[in-house]
Amino acid sequence: MPAHRIEGYVIVSADGMLANADRVMPDALKFEGDKNFFTSALDNADLIVHGRHSGEDQPNSPERKRVILTRRIAALAPDPSNPNATLWNPSGAPFEAACDFAGVDSGTVAVIGGPGVFGMFMDRYDTFWLSLAPKVRLPGGEPCFPGVPQRSPQQILAAHGLKPGEARLLDPENDVSVTPWQRVVAPSRSKPRQTSP
Ligand SMILES: NC(=O)c1ccc[n+]([C@@H]2O[C@H](COP(=O)([O-])OP(=O)(O)OC[C@H]3O[C@@H](n4cnc5c(N)ncnc54)[C@H](OP(=O)(O)O)[C@@H]3O)[C@@H](O)[C@H]2O)c1
Repeated sequence: MPAHRIEGYVIVSADGMLANADRVMPDALKFEGDKNFFTSALDNADLIVHGRHSGEDQPNSPERKRVILTRRIAALAPDPSNPNATLWNPSGAPFEAACDFAGVDSGTVAVIGGPGVFGMFMDRYDTFWLSLAPKVRLPGGEPCFPGVPQRSPQQILAAHGLKPGEARLLDPENDVSVTPWQRVVAPSRSKPRQTSP
């Protein structure tokens, strides 16, 4: 059994973007219902993982343990600006070592972006929570995953063995919903019963 449960979170525009052409998440992608969903998910996570330009910027953020990806260090280091953060360069240390360094050896890990970081964990998510703002388009924006827009975010999740569950409406006025994409685990085959000699 893996020690960590890994969950991903993103909100994307109709064209699969997580940020605009300036690589900034615009107000057009911010919705109260989605923010509340995301906040409570992160309050229940044991560890947050993100790239150096991402982060959730919430009142509880300083309390949360986090691992921040960066190439500025060789492998693992404490973050001098945040006692709850570990800096991690995946080319120098595996993810499990980053979790150990952060002091989180089990529990739920929330991966919150950006695109390259989402891509790294694509084969490891237990659930990916894909929030969609279907009335927002961000032409020339930053695609949420490597491979978008050639393929949709949904096609990419499906190609990595995840299947959509029931969508939950987060903002009825703007049709914003979140869909859990869950890993389908093949049932383990029971051993054939031994016949008596
Ligand atoms: N809509 C959403 O839900 C959502 C979610 C997440 C992010 N966003 C938005 O997306 C934008 C950020 O995107 P971004 O492309 O800049 O991504 P990012 O992953 O937040 O930051 C990129 C930086 O993270 C580090 N990094 C990423 N992958 C790495 C790897 N494999 N190995 C080592 N270091 C790695 C590097 O830092 P160094 O430069 O220090 O080496 C890199 O420059 C922001 O505007 C953010 O608000 C939106």
